[in-house]
Amino acid sequence: MDSGLKQRKRVARIALPTAALLLVGGAVTVQSIGSAAAAETTLRAAAANAGLFFGVAASPGRLTSIVGQEFNQLTPENDMKPATIATSSGALQNTGNADTLVNYAQSNNMLVRGHTMVWHSQAGALQGASQATLNTFIGNALNRWGNRIAYWDVVNEALGDNNTGSRRTQWPHTLNRDANGDGDFFDTGDTDVIRDSFIRAKQVVQAGGLTTKLCINDYDVEGLTVQGGTPNRKANALYDIVRNYRQYIDCVGFQAHFNDNPNSIITNDLQANIQRFADLGVEVHITELDIDDDLSNNDIGAGQAENYRKVVRACLNVAKCTGITVWGIADSESWRSSERGLLFTGGSGNYQKKAAYTAVLDELNKGRVPVNPTSPASTTTPPTTPPTTPPVTPSVPPTTPPNPTPGCSATVSLNSWTGGFVATVKVTAGSAPINGWSVQLTLPSGAAVTNAWNANRSGSSGAVQFGNVSYNGRLNAGQSTEFGFQGTGAAGNLSPVCTAS
Ligand code: XIL
Repeated sequence: MDSGLKQRKRVARIALPTAALLLVGGAVTVQSIGSAAAAETTLRAAAANAGLFFGVAASPGRLTSIVGQEFNQLTPENDMKPATIATSSGALQNTGNADTLVNYAQSNNMLVRGHTMVWHSQAGALQGASQATLNTFIGNALNRWGNRIAYWDVVNEALGDNNTGSRRTQWPHTLNRDANGDGDFFDTGDTDVIRDSFIRAKQVVQAGGLTTKLCINDYDVEGLTVQGGTPNRKANALYDIVRNYRQYIDCVGFQAHFNDNPNSIITNDLQANIQRFADLGVEVHITELDIDDDLSNNDIGAGQAENYRKVVRACLNVAKCTGITVWGIADSESWRSSERGLLFTGGSGNYQKKAAYTAVLDELNKGRVPVNPTSPASTTTPPTTPPTTPPVTPSVPPTTPPNPTPGCSATVSLNSWTGGFVATVKVTAGSAPINGWSVQLTLPSGAAVTNAWNANRSGSSGAVQFGNVSYNGRLNAGQSTEFGFQGTGAAGNLSPVCTAS
């Protein structure tokens, strides 16, 4: 089947129940329009049509009418942090502001994201607490608001700066112990404050029959790469954490405080990175979005509106990217007011929409199904943008190599779109432990790898080889690890061959 036909069939299958054919500038396009053909005029309505939430961080003093009008999700900017609500024994105190925010959200049909429980900063009386005390606080916080909180950031900012890919070294990460000295905290016998906090949170959720989803949240984890194309080791470390603790973690937050720091810019692989987390089965959220509009030389803010559009599009193109939250209403009221990174100017309830607002609204109104790339309406959508991917149906079913080499085996699952794909490769050790692995596969002509994560790659077309990196080579008998790569062209049916060492 030619790829154009495949694309048309897929669009038809996804879009027909909710789509209409529209004439835009003479070209026929397909748009996901929900129940109404007209473009929505608020962020929350446009987002709801596209199947995601659009939220804002706020404090009680900022709850003017714009909050309930424009947003359908609310994150307390400071009022649920341990510094405000925790005592040194993990009991709750001063929950008045948090209650005000939760009540406001409920009366305005907004979801709430609880923010946050286990964090090195703004820990207040909890600073230096033991895991047992953290667990007490986790239980109290979850049970205090129950299902009135849809998502909780259980662990915030666990990873260090400067793209080291390491955990932070200050409390609460001083609770960690690497028993066998292999450089990670994933093994039996290790102590890991991330794992143990999520285990506790999951127990509380299950014991209370709660629907609250448990998230891990961090910054500088947005792209597969950072400026200059260096792999984003912080994002890779987060990916490893989520993969290892998938049974306890429901959602991943990319803070998305984009600025001039080389690790904090918007890269073209934002969408592919969202996709690889989504492929683990978790929801992905953009949780604290603001985009620097600094006009200095190394500025990323020129075209702030286009940057906003890019981030919204990357989320819309991944079905499991289920929400975007901006970190405040107006520039003047932002925690980074000098960077003018938000959607409104003005203040104190009197707000004016910026170009960034219009770009976000417009992009949300396009929905998850991109319009025909040849139409004038789609000029800001990159031609390789994949259509909405069905969450559980890879376009090519996972393939098992016919003759797995003794020692390890590999399977591939693909998410493909016209002109590109993301492959996730699962490597599984055989009946004995292995110290390293290498996977070879042959791409059909016309296909090429553009980047890979959690593996060292040689070659980009034809026969391509992927070897383990330092942290995922050693596997116990039957244990699995995953790496991934993105490519252009059509991947076809890939038959990976795994060799163990
Ligand atoms: C910030 C708030 O916006 C400020 O008002 C406060 O002074 C400091 O914290 N990452 C997070 C947020 O997870 O909680 C931080 O919020 C911004 C960075």
